[in-house]
Amino acid sequence: MRTQVAIIGSGPSGLLLGQLLSHAGIDNIIVDRVDREYILGRIRAGVLEAGMVGMLDEAGAGKRMHEEGLVHDGFSLAFAGGHQRIDLQGLTGKSVMVYGQTEVTRDLMDKRAHEGGVTIYNAANVTPHDFEGDAPYVTYEKDGTTHRIDCDFIAGCDGYHGPSRAAVEGRGLKTYEKVYPFGWLGLLADVPPVHHELIYANHERGFALCSQRSNTRSRYYVQVPLSDKVEQWSDEAFWDEIRRRLPHPVAEAMTTGPSLEKSIAPLRSFVAEPLRFGRLFLAGDAGHIVPPTGAKGLNLAASDIRYLFDGLRDYYSDHSSAGIDGYSARALARIWKAERFSWSMTMLMHRFPDEGDFGQKVQEAELDFLSSSTAAQTAMAENYVGLPY
Ligand code: APR
Ligand code: PHB
Repeated sequence: MRTQVAIIGSGPSGLLLGQLLSHAGIDNIIVDRVDREYILGRIRAGVLEAGMVGMLDEAGAGKRMHEEGLVHDGFSLAFAGGHQRIDLQGLTGKSVMVYGQTEVTRDLMDKRAHEGGVTIYNAANVTPHDFEGDAPYVTYEKDGTTHRIDCDFIAGCDGYHGPSRAAVEGRGLKTYEKVYPFGWLGLLADVPPVHHELIYANHERGFALCSQRSNTRSRYYVQVPLSDKVEQWSDEAFWDEIRRRLPHPVAEAMTTGPSLEKSIAPLRSFVAEPLRFGRLFLAGDAGHIVPPTGAKGLNLAASDIRYLFDGLRDYYSDHSSAGIDGYSARALARIWKAERFSWSMTMLMHRFPDEGDFGQKVQEAELDFLSSSTAAQTAMAENYVGLPY
């Protein structure tokens, strides 16, 4: 098989890139280790910046998002028994779109299938080869046979555990990492959201988040020790715990119900540099991870793809390598700002038992400052709605 761009990974990064390339007349094949239903079974965040919304439109996959997505003009920080609304629209003139990553992925997959784009699912041992030279290729195994895709470029969109970053280890790859001493226990339920906007709560028992997928489906989280197992948490225990961590009126207004999904995710900050190795590019979670506080993971995948697609398009249409040569530096400049924001929002809103009383007092002072300073709220809002591409 031959294609222009071989894409490893059929998550949001790979699918977005595939759509944009196809629409620009650039041939591409996506290869994934698992199948469509498995990918759509993953529950991830669901807050889209305007840049991501624009890219879904550009990919021709924005229709349902505009019909079913919820435009949010603000969110709240709850702490010390009260709350502070961050007026995104008033402070920045911008909003965010609440629409689940699962739906984004489904819309992109449907569009690709409808247009006849090639995706190979259930491919084992996917491996990028010879990307430091001029004739890279990808191999994979399926149905007992080894297949080979010759290509001009390989896009490593295969997430944190994929083979693309593994292939460049020891070739000048530098990684930066911070692991947080807790996880998020998340619960999805078909109950109306407790509030029309998101609430991020800092409470002495730990962080809590009230999010949503629609007017009838809610997504809630509580900070838990890393040693906790999801089996320890009955639905009832979860609801009791989140209500304890929210201001009284919110807790009392909450509708509870049986969980559709419940899972624990560890929190991590991670960046790999550079994001280009010859004809192999890393994009999305393959190159970086943010803790979910602030919901930047999916949005960073979109900005990587913006820069990578622009570079590839210029390469094919104008014979210009400037865009692909600049990809890593451009993407990383935006990634590090989102890393900083996700880290600072994580530090602001969680309880850190090891930071002691001093750490606790500093956190309280920062929250207090945020409630009294429009400048501080504006800085938070600017980051939350998304920095420019
Ligand atoms: N071979 C082929 N495909 C692989 C392999 C492999 N060995 N390993 C992983 N993949 C596939 C996964 O099955 C998955 O479908 O790569 C895809 C990566 O998708 P994501 O993990 O969703 O990563 P990405 O597309 O970059 O999206 C980033 O997703 O993880 C969230 O928080 C993150 O919201 C962010 C977004
Ligand atoms: C979610 O809805 O899953 C969500 C929303 C906002 C976040 C993280 C997760 O910051």
